Amino acid sequence: MTDTRTDRNTGQQATLEPDRQEQREQALTDRVIDSFATAPNPRLREIMQSLTAHLHAFIRDVRLTDAEWEAGIQFLTDVGHITDDRRQEFILASDVLGASMQTIIVNNPSDGAVTESTVFGPFFVEDSPQIPLGGDISGGASGEPCWVEGSVVDAEGRAIPGARVEVWEADDEGFYDVQYPDGRVAGRAHVHADAEGRFRFWALTPTPYPIPHDGPVGRLLAATGRSPVRAAHLHFMVTADGARTLVTHIFVDGDPQLEIGDSVFGVQDSLIKEFARQQPGTPTPDGRNLGDIPWSRTRFDIVLAATGDRE
Ligand code: BEZ
Ligand code: FE
Repeated sequence: MTDTRTDRNTGQQATLEPDRQEQREQALTDRVIDSFATAPNPRLREIMQSLTAHLHAFIRDVRLTDAEWEAGIQFLTDVGHITDDRRQEFILASDVLGASMQTIIVNNPSDGAVTESTVFGPFFVEDSPQIPLGGDISGGASGEPCWVEGSVVDAEGRAIPGARVEVWEADDEGFYDVQYPDGRVAGRAHVHADAEGRFRFWALTPTPYPIPHDGPVGRLLAATGRSPVRAAHLHFMVTADGARTLVTHIFVDGDPQLEIGDSVFGVQDSLIKEFARQQPGTPTPDGRNLGDIPWSRTRFDIVLAATGDRE
């Protein structure tokens, strides 16, 4: 069987034999897959063979041109050049492609029993300040005060006393402290839950902010008409002996960015929480005097999986 097609690389009409062309392409795919057949590690063999199959299928599906292949290589080169120990553009690329979130979903099946996970992001810092229950994580970062309270329990509903609840967030201008020029620590802290597994602290009402978009990932988003903005969120990492570490966020119900879309696909419905706005002068749960400013309050009840579950 033969037909006439326009060659995408040369623009010329060429008489092709589709069956033969198909066979040549498939033969190469098969040869590359076979080349991994002797890998001593069976998991590495499985991953490389599946990667090859999908990569070749993609190239054949879109009929990738030489120039497009070169553009892809240039993109990866640019991602490598901007990456250093402070900036991880490869993870950012994985995030905007949904690959980070897909990996999280694959590894954390949602049966409703435990709190869902979401992306870690690049702004976590070890050794955050410890604050007492009811303390303030803002450390002078600007934004509207937000009272956050909740509990940490296991999948059987038993309190996890002393669970470490680590929290970090951007200020109301969309910056994390690590992006400040003066190196000060703000908008991050950890508390330990009380004997009943309860926690409470002051934070800032989260606001939407853009992921770093001054590099190749930002250019990709611009070229594809996508927004770099993340839905407003507050990051959590919760750890306790015998429990699987939970990395997650809570999102703000009613945030218009939830409709527009989160640039890294991190939103899970179960993580969208009411942040109830409070009028200036409304008494706070801890009797704090906020003067003439509004504030908000939210609740996050956390269920941790046991260590060994789903691993
Ligand atoms: C963040 O929420 O901090 C974040 C997550 C993924 C990419 C960039 C930022
Ligand atoms: Fe964030």
